[in-house]
Amino acid sequence: MADNLNENRDIDLAQATVIATGTLRKNGESYSVIRLEEKHIPQMAALHDRVYNDLAPSDKTFMLHKDTAYFTRHFAQSHTGIGIVHNGKLVAHGLLHLPTKQYPNTEMGDFKKKIKPQDIAVMLNLQVHPDSRGHSLMSIVISSLMNQAQKRGRKHLLSEVDVRNTASWYSFMKEGLKIHSIGDDPRDGAVLYNMHAKTKPLMKHRLSKTFNAMAAKKNADIPQNEITRQRGLLKKGWHGVSYNTKQNTLGFRRPNLARRVINTFKRTG
Ligand SMILES: CC(C)(COP(=O)(O)OP(=O)(O)OC[C@H]1O[C@@H](n2cnc3c(N)ncnc32)[C@H](O)[C@@H]1OP(=O)(O)O)[C@@H](O)C(=O)NCCC(=O)NCCS
Repeated sequence: MADNLNENRDIDLAQATVIATGTLRKNGESYSVIRLEEKHIPQMAALHDRVYNDLAPSDKTFMLHKDTAYFTRHFAQSHTGIGIVHNGKLVAHGLLHLPTKQYPNTEMGDFKKKIKPQDIAVMLNLQVHPDSRGHSLMSIVISSLMNQAQKRGRKHLLSEVDVRNTASWYSFMKEGLKIHSIGDDPRDGAVLYNMHAKTKPLMKHRLSKTFNAMAAKKNADIPQNEITRQRGLLKKGWHGVSYNTKQNTLGFRRPNLARRVINTFKRTG
């Protein structure tokens, strides 16, 4: 297994666009969130190779391997990305793919929902160096990518995750994305959760206790490994919205639940 960490040269923060800074959850050490640019491609490619090589053979479907030419095309086409730098090294990154009318490809393997390409932002190639896991850095990358998507005027956020990749889809869920559907990726045979969120999804009603109590009644909890049952609900338009880490169950919600609950809420609450 090749370890390209030595090629992951230090990033000079003075020459980078630093978007935010923070401290790592487990040890309090400082990190910086930067906007990735073409000049950071060697570090991205090195981190990506390190992460991909580290995946067990059965987990290779967690991410499609990308070569340096892919990263070069990505930045040449005005897409963007976010990186996290710790002790000078790029330890986490994620890319934001921004389709256009002219180039509508979303890079999603099996996602069916009619949305104009120019309204979509796709988060992909998210990863954290194995030595830097457990600080929820993926959540930080996701929220930074979401901000970038909003700034670029995109209304819908998408991503796809292998259904077995709990750390990944759980991180998306914690940042507000829902499981929209299950897809079968023809590129590598992976079974994928298609994750989706609108960039302005939050309604004040969701914060009230009455609203949440009403919403809870309309949920179904399905064991994590019962993909066929989950597919059935998703095909009827339900969405996966939560995860119970103790019981390993996913919470699914009926379609248009928010609207229905708001209407009941207006009548009774
Ligand atoms: C997916 C990945 C980016 C997550 O890295 P990370 O941000 O360090 O993730 P963490 O270990 O902090 O886990 C994130 C959350 O998932 C939870 N989690 C992780 N594994 C879990 C599991 N097997 N079961 C339940 N929960 C789990 C963690 O407890 C954490 O939740 P918390 O913040 O509430 O404690 C990293 O594992 C990775 O790079 N994997 C290989 C590449 C990959 O799969 N990329 C995603 C492509 S879509």
